[in-house]
Amino acid sequence: MNDQLWYKDAIIYECPVKSFRDSNGDGIGDFKGLIEKLDYLEQLGITAIWILPFFPSPLRDDGYDIKDYYTVNPIYGDIEDFRHFVAEAHRRNIKVIIELVINHSSDQHPWFQRAIKAPRDSDERNYYVWSDDPEKYKEVRIIFQDFEKSNWTWHEEAGQYYWHRFFHHQPDLNFDHPPVQEEIFRILDFWAAFGVDGFRLDAIPYLFERENSSGENLLETHDFLKKLRAYIDKNHKGVMLLAEANMWPEDSAAYFGEGDECHMNFHFPVMPRLYMGLKKMDRSPIIEILNQTPQIPENCQWATFLRNHDELTLEMVTLEDRHYMWDQYAADQRARINLGIRLRLARLMDNDRRKIELMNVLLFSLPGTPVLYYGDEIGMGDDLTQEDRNGVRTPMQWNDQINGGFSEADTSLLYLPTVPDPEYHFSKINVRKQIDDTDSLFHWTKNLIALRKQLNVLGRGDLQFIEVANKSILVFSRSYKSEKILILINLSDQQLDLRLDVTILGTNKIKELFNAHVYPIDEDKVLNLELGAWDYKWLVSG
Ligand code: BGC
Repeated sequence: MNDQLWYKDAIIYECPVKSFRDSNGDGIGDFKGLIEKLDYLEQLGITAIWILPFFPSPLRDDGYDIKDYYTVNPIYGDIEDFRHFVAEAHRRNIKVIIELVINHSSDQHPWFQRAIKAPRDSDERNYYVWSDDPEKYKEVRIIFQDFEKSNWTWHEEAGQYYWHRFFHHQPDLNFDHPPVQEEIFRILDFWAAFGVDGFRLDAIPYLFERENSSGENLLETHDFLKKLRAYIDKNHKGVMLLAEANMWPEDSAAYFGEGDECHMNFHFPVMPRLYMGLKKMDRSPIIEILNQTPQIPENCQWATFLRNHDELTLEMVTLEDRHYMWDQYAADQRARINLGIRLRLARLMDNDRRKIELMNVLLFSLPGTPVLYYGDEIGMGDDLTQEDRNGVRTPMQWNDQINGGFSEADTSLLYLPTVPDPEYHFSKINVRKQIDDTDSLFHWTKNLIALRKQLNVLGRGDLQFIEVANKSILVFSRSYKSEKILILINLSDQQLDLRLDVTILGTNKIKELFNAHVYPIDEDKVLNLELGAWDYKWLVSG
């Protein structure tokens, strides 16, 4: 298989360096700690690791506020540790994806500090976006609604307003200014030289601003991405670009261009609809959104996910659906933030193993490459007493020892406390315990990953829905060359009977892949089976 398309068959694991393992006892995870735990990730079976921003930063947005793009924040180690990390990941055939946060920098970045002192309209000032009028671009929405009132903030020393789509301490870089674009190419070269395999393009729809527009998905942004991609293809062939573009399907798919922009792109719209389908016990939200999703170029791939380090975003659902989701999944008001929900998967699933499995099977069955969020493979919980999105960024739970095995530091020194809730406490939920128990969620997830890796059809195949009478049952086939798989999902809490025409699999014997059960098929190619509550099946001819 063409290795340049590795991302089509990947299993990505999202991991903040800070949260995984502290090697030096200062209470903060670091690269040496992450290296120690690569064997664990290899055992789990993931094929790529996406690490969150590790650059020097005031950490007012967990590192998405960068003040130096060219080195490692000393709290995580140094550049040699990073080099070593990449080598150790590669030795285990694990690809490395890092962040390219280019929409904005920290206000502590020397570019911004220089800009505020530089004369108006000078080269230095123009690294950022300025205005005398805070009414400019007034059609543009505010993303962090719980924290910011405007996308403009007055700067006393500069004597002008500066533009920011996120926190006010994250001024947006000015992509209309050619030197800014050149800086981005330099940053890319710098990290690509370490052998990095991919970059996640943070907040990519917002690069440019234009009058009378939403300031999102502008043509200029797509033109810049085409330039970036051409540059990659010329200078760093095989390096993958993953767009973070939280948009409706049509706008989102535009980030693939014609196969000449990003290689990958998160499928934001399908994510909340998986949760809706489950809660409503109705497949239609999932089918509708996938039917609205355009075909994408051959060399491209969606990145699908259930949870990540941010809130479970409800930006791309109707107002009615947003309220439905909040009512159903975030009855506790503290769980709501901006336009989303700040809970982990296990908590959203009421810690019910069957539902956790079902959601993961859905994730692994849909077109796209699954992205797992650290800790979800053992069913970690969250901590709503923490601010912002920190409740889902707590230390990884390795064992039942001090600080859950995350750090030997005095507990009061941890960057965040471990999850206090007794149901999710590290004494109960931890890696060691789950490795020792072959029935654990860890082993189940490991098995799911191993199965998926044998099935190219799941990474590459097309999808066809199959109509069945009961709306709680979702059935679809995936096909790739001669490989075919039938996927059955029971979204309801009831046991249901199913009669299904399985002609598509073309044999008289059908095998279920999770339990190796073989079903005989009658002459009419009809399969009769029972699906338990939240049951799932992967069927192949066998
Ligand atoms: C990241 C967030 C971050 C924001 C601003 C994103 O979309 O995922 O964690 O706060 O960009 O940088």
